[in-house]
Amino acid sequence: MIDKSNRFRALGTAKPGELENLRQQMLAQDTDYLPAYHIAPKTGHLNDPNGMVFDGEKYHLFYQWFPFGPFHGMKHWKYLITKDFIHFEEGDVLAPENEFETHGIYSGGAICIDGFIYCFYSGNVMNEDGETFSQNQNVAKYSTDGKLLDRWNIVPEAPTGYTGNFRDPSPFINEEGELMFVVGAQREGETGATLLYKMTSLTQAELVGEVSYGGKSDLAQQADVYMHECPDISHSNGKDLFILSPMGLKPQAERYNNIFSTQLMIGQYQRGEMHAEQVIELDKGFDFYAPQTFTDSERNIMLAWCGNGSLSIPTELLGWKFMLTMPRELVMEGSKLIQRPLAEFNQLKQPLVTLEQPGRYDIDGNLSQSYITVDVIADQAFSLTLFEDSQYKLILTYQDGSLLLDRSQTIETDDMKRFGSERTVKLESLQQLEIFIDNSVIEIFINGGEEVMTSRFFIPNRSHNMAFDGAAQVSISEMSAISLY
Ligand code: FRU
Repeated sequence: MIDKSNRFRALGTAKPGELENLRQQMLAQDTDYLPAYHIAPKTGHLNDPNGMVFDGEKYHLFYQWFPFGPFHGMKHWKYLITKDFIHFEEGDVLAPENEFETHGIYSGGAICIDGFIYCFYSGNVMNEDGETFSQNQNVAKYSTDGKLLDRWNIVPEAPTGYTGNFRDPSPFINEEGELMFVVGAQREGETGATLLYKMTSLTQAELVGEVSYGGKSDLAQQADVYMHECPDISHSNGKDLFILSPMGLKPQAERYNNIFSTQLMIGQYQRGEMHAEQVIELDKGFDFYAPQTFTDSERNIMLAWCGNGSLSIPTELLGWKFMLTMPRELVMEGSKLIQRPLAEFNQLKQPLVTLEQPGRYDIDGNLSQSYITVDVIADQAFSLTLFEDSQYKLILTYQDGSLLLDRSQTIETDDMKRFGSERTVKLESLQQLEIFIDNSVIEIFINGGEEVMTSRFFIPNRSHNMAFDGAAQVSISEMSAISLY
């Protein structure tokens, strides 16, 4: 059993050497699953990406972090700074210190104004009954070299008519040039809502009202949704992209099969109204939630939590839990959303081999840290079997317009099995796959990024075996590691 006593410890209570010991323990215990080029927690638990912003030169990103154990505890914002997503430096952690954040610094976004970074975040406070929580909104000011300068409360509590579930502020500049934020909320009747606030100054917020969802928005019809988490607005080629992580969505055929799922509404957003022309599930794999976007001078970039809820996974016995997805560019091409891994990752690829004949191969290189491209000839049936040994294998098959990822023959906790062992994407045809494998995670970009499946998988002591069947050309590169901590 994992010891969760003391789960509300803040970083300041760490004993000398304690975190370094935790880090050394996790590195020693886990020789199978730690990723090489994905962002995993330095110690303990990671969930949502937070506060992502580009300052003109460097990218700043944070993640939800509980340092002391692989479970949801006292949340901090762990801070990473990079110019290329390959080399990272650490900035000041945003740790709970004040009355408005006694039980954690919850998610939010950031914005860069006049050379400072303003992180909008939720303070989490346990109510006097010791069971319920209430949440409030705050700003933390950072210098672009990673120093925490100040922080203050901007919204002390949820407005009348809403419960204490009130979190994940995401700032943006609206069409009138005003600084606004959207934030997830729950109405008293326990239905989900998104609230819109206007910042009348950097210290004052004013409630505008609820965001209304029209057009094809599934949410309008979903009475089951009881909370909106992590709202996020971005743009691409004349379309507004409104991301929500609505809790309570019911599965609909091959959509929304994870504990919690993420929706992207594509359409027009103006003055608190989102009119959706299309609604899509952003990722069709097992492990994807709470994405956020940010822009640099050219790109709309998204990162997500490669994890979900309190899902039990094998690495929790090894001292750490969950990771972030790779950063992806989101681009509208006509009416299609395309998701592309950032070009920066090309630097990590070293070509190994190209295979033209179906068969079983023992790859001379590290298949566990690899990039595989598959060019499928004439939409024919295709299958790929990875890491097969006497007990385990991970299988991807395509036939008649369905691409299926099957992790039933890998290690799954009972908790994982509750959500099924297969995920399917329906396609008009299959032309190409780009597959990133990083020890215990696989990200599959389909047909140049028209669909993506992100999933963890757990196979210990992996071989370098790979087999494929069907008319295809398969090229494999090895991926080198990023330098993170
Ligand atoms: C989403 C979420 C957010 C919250 C954070 C707490 O995964 O539940 O709504 O702010 O995680 O860690």
